[in-house]
Amino acid sequence: TTDPLVVFTPSGKRGHFPVGTPVLTAARQLGVDLDSVCGGRGICSKCQITPSYGEFPKHGVTASENALSEWNAVEQRYDDKRGLKSGRRLGCQATVQGDIVIDVPPESQVHRQVVRKAATARAITMDPATRLYFVVVEEPDMHSPTGDLERLERALREQWNIDAITADLSLMSKLQPVLRKGKWEVTVALHKGHKDEAARVVEIWPGLHEHGLYGLAIDLGSTTIAAHLTDMETGEVKASSGLMNPQIRFGEDLMSRVSYSMMNPGGDQEMTKAVREAINDLTTSISEEAGISSELIVETVFVCNPVMHHLLLGLDPVELGQAPFALATSESMSLPAREMDLTNMNPRAQVYILPCIAGHVGADCAAVALSEEPGKSEDLVLIVDVGTNAEILLGNTSRVLACSSPTGPAFEGAQISSGQRAAPGAIERIEIDPVTKEPRFRVIGSEKWSDQEGFDQEIATSGITGICGSGIIEAVAEMRVAGLLDESGLIGSADQTGTPRCVPEGRTHAYLIHDASAEGGPRITVTQGDIRAIQLAKSALYAGARLLMDEMNVDTVDRVVLAGAFGAHISTKHAMVLGMIPDAPLNKVSSAGNAAGTGARIALCNIGARSEIERVVREITKVETAIEPKFQDHFVAANAIPHKTDPFPELSQ
Ligand code: FES
Repeated sequence: TTDPLVVFTPSGKRGHFPVGTPVLTAARQLGVDLDSVCGGRGICSKCQITPSYGEFPKHGVTASENALSEWNAVEQRYDDKRGLKSGRRLGCQATVQGDIVIDVPPESQVHRQVVRKAATARAITMDPATRLYFVVVEEPDMHSPTGDLERLERALREQWNIDAITADLSLMSKLQPVLRKGKWEVTVALHKGHKDEAARVVEIWPGLHEHGLYGLAIDLGSTTIAAHLTDMETGEVKASSGLMNPQIRFGEDLMSRVSYSMMNPGGDQEMTKAVREAINDLTTSISEEAGISSELIVETVFVCNPVMHHLLLGLDPVELGQAPFALATSESMSLPAREMDLTNMNPRAQVYILPCIAGHVGADCAAVALSEEPGKSEDLVLIVDVGTNAEILLGNTSRVLACSSPTGPAFEGAQISSGQRAAPGAIERIEIDPVTKEPRFRVIGSEKWSDQEGFDQEIATSGITGICGSGIIEAVAEMRVAGLLDESGLIGSADQTGTPRCVPEGRTHAYLIHDASAEGGPRITVTQGDIRAIQLAKSALYAGARLLMDEMNVDTVDRVVLAGAFGAHISTKHAMVLGMIPDAPLNKVSSAGNAAGTGARIALCNIGARSEIERVVREITKVETAIEPKFQDHFVAANAIPHKTDPFPELSQ
């Protein structure tokens, strides 16, 4: 053929096209990922490309400046109005004139990659369920009387190949005025799920809608609720925010909330109402923080443990209070946000809840599996997601096991005398000098250590508010290493330890980290009660991990991943000194940050990931800690720091 050769980068896709073919058309025919919201009308600018002229021996093309058409009036108008970056053309306007290599920049790709922070993590590929489509709808006509919705549907079919649409009554009431206001040109946001249902019209705007679409990824924990507001076109996180779960007033941990529901008729509904209101408040505050209208939030993905799952959905969790721990459903759910009284987002926003695994192993664990992919690991990897309930996964390509362990809220700073949520003012890092036994610490919001020059005096006197989860983990581990604690967790007296910082407190002792009278600010100590709370939490965590190792028939693991809402900050070394996790070479222990939250983001940005996790959870074997007698034995043995019997050879090095 003598037609010019067109090569697209970075995909490398190529083909011959007749002179005059628009670049967007060529891209479509070759299956090149080039975005378009306006369908080639030259108004959305999503289709920008960069022609590369010069020698391309690799591609066998010699392109010239004349290989694309001159600017046309549409491009000129666009450039005059908003400006095109230098060297950029609109792919729907520029036509092929000769051999050419065309680069599609990342922002013009629908399925662009969103890079995650952790170096080992795979990128998130954008493929959202809700997308924007600009359409030109035929005007009504006396002679062919069809409804406006039917004409919108036909326009979507002809211009975008979309088969069938549905619209609910609240959308119907906007349809007619918006079509007329836009002079029959409108943008619709269509939600198309991964399960073959008809596309649903979520929103309609007159003309071209240019203010984007947003989604929320929410990790609904027993103690904290964390949300990420995400741009559904770019995948960028616009704001992250969190608050305490207001259900705490009904019970600190899951089982006490289940019993609240058992003892109080209507108690489950009270808790449902409380958590939904908190999510509504969080939705409003996070949109304000990001400076967007909350009406633009069209999708929300939830990950949570089974009790939170039921209470969010308004289902009584009573069956989760006793064996066999039957869930109302373990399947994923897709439903309108309005059905859950989530009123502070778009009225037609869609909610997706990840599937639960079984019993007390929930959607949060599924989200960790989606984020960390234990089933794709050649090495045997142990993943612990630390929270009020720890989600634990152990596996590799041949098999994945999962359990949930009731650690209690100590790792999140609750039930600790000076404990608090990770927020500015919280001590998050602590070191204790093994010789002088003097502490130094760092506070969230300050870069400096307390003994460094430049440590903010204001913080020292009035800005310190308490210790967060990662801080208390480090404090206990450092106390053990400095000899202030014995193996059983008992704090020694000033005489025994040789430091006046070990002060009497009732019949026990406490370690003084920050003294109010001498140093200003609050008095912050680690008490014997705090040590006991951390011991209980870490024993539960360790026992859960050991139970999975027994089940897998192994004594060691190749790799450990520590995750949690504050997982990025847990020091892996301190976690091991404490015996939170089994012994492993320290360079094989990594932090994954909030893996459950990341799993929620992946499911928010990519509909394929929803099918994937629904398949993966069916292959995960659940181990129920509550009915396993060996759990109790492991729990008792793990009470010592780091452990009563299990060796920690890596630690002694
Ligand atoms: Fe919208 Fe080209 S496709 S401007």
